[in-house]
Amino acid sequence: MTRVLVTGGAGYIGTHTCVELLARGYEPVVVDNFVNSTPEAIRRVSRLTGRTLTWYEGDVRDTGKMAHLLGKHECRAVIHFAGLKAVGESTERPLDYYSVNTLGTHALASAMLDAGVHQLVFSSSATVYGEPVFLPYTESHPLQPTSPYGRSKQAAEMLLNDIAASGAMRDIAILRYFNPIGAHPSGLIGEDPNDVPNNLMPYVAQVAVGRRPFLNIWGNDYDTPDGTGVRDYLHVVDLARAHVLALDRFRHTHGPVTLNLGTGHGSSVLDVVKAFEEASGRRIPLRFEPRRAGDIAAFWADPSLAEETLGWKAENTLEDMCRDQWTWQSRNPLGYEAA
Ligand code: NAD
Ligand code: UFG
Repeated sequence: MTRVLVTGGAGYIGTHTCVELLARGYEPVVVDNFVNSTPEAIRRVSRLTGRTLTWYEGDVRDTGKMAHLLGKHECRAVIHFAGLKAVGESTERPLDYYSVNTLGTHALASAMLDAGVHQLVFSSSATVYGEPVFLPYTESHPLQPTSPYGRSKQAAEMLLNDIAASGAMRDIAILRYFNPIGAHPSGLIGEDPNDVPNNLMPYVAQVAVGRRPFLNIWGNDYDTPDGTGVRDYLHVVDLARAHVLALDRFRHTHGPVTLNLGTGHGSSVLDVVKAFEEASGRRIPLRFEPRRAGDIAAFWADPSLAEETLGWKAENTLEDMCRDQWTWQSRNPLGYEAA
């Protein structure tokens, strides 16, 4: 059994990845400080998989603790999800974003070298690209992130690439996620934002379930087919699978790699609303509001390098994503809180 330390493993993408890891013969060891999650999410993963998960409360910046856990469980690899991810909040709390996302990655990498662990999968984001110079974004698109969040991820990427270049750590996969949505089809795990959701999909789902009266659409005057923003939404289970494939690849191919994870297709806000209405049978009342500061009109991925490198391709459609998001939201209207 190959054990893998999963930082931030109680979060949205982390829980879905633990399910896929267990299905593919890996044993996740979760460490999370629960700043944006709850141990209930880990209990749900256990319920879903019928397996007991080993987990610890801890901060990824605690190098000593990370090195101890890596040694104690004889981990072969690390998947590093722990991070802060709200773009708007990052402009108000840059110190926290650099501390967790950049220095946290530094602390974890140091712990890995101390413990002799040389395989790392890192959560980066399409937000590192910034205003598109061309579309779709390929991995060689210039990096001009427009927020402290994006720059904290870019800085972590630079650090990891330098560590790889020094020869100190051999196998690093930097994964740039586009817009993950949806949930495990069981309805047992899903995204559970702490406050008012910033992101489109959880907001739409909360309107559908009656927690919020209407959706604000931030801008309908963009240069896009229907005037609303366009993104590359991908199913979180497809995203989770890519992490397992990245670990599998380390068995035979070495060296650093940076990959876009998206579908290669853009959908507008109105496309998402329509698909969600169809999946849920609920109407989503809308209000058109001015553009949100810092938003980009449209971007989507060129995911061909991920297919070439990992044999990975997103399989689920927007309809699948909306159906599974609705299963999760309708069965857990208050998220994990009620449990
Ligand atoms: P999430 O908030 O659900 O999960 C992150 C987890 O990390 C949470 O459980 C949180 O409690 C934990 N955490 C935060 N700071 C920590 C610390 N100092 N020590 C230990 N644990 C800590 O977010 P997610 O959507 O699952 O995102 C996972 C990763 O993917 C993040 O690094 C995020 O930046 C990145 N990412 C997410 C998206 C997205 O749209 N969801 C897009 C691109 C990149
Ligand atoms: N939108 C609305 N109303 C809302 C929320 C969003 O109209 O209530 C619109 C936005 O204006 C945008 C689209 O829906 O056009 C998607 O917005 P999200 O906030 O869901 O996603 P973003 O693309 O802005 O950002 C997300 C994450 C980032 C990540 C990025 C990567 O928040 O952390 O995807 O692609 F880096």
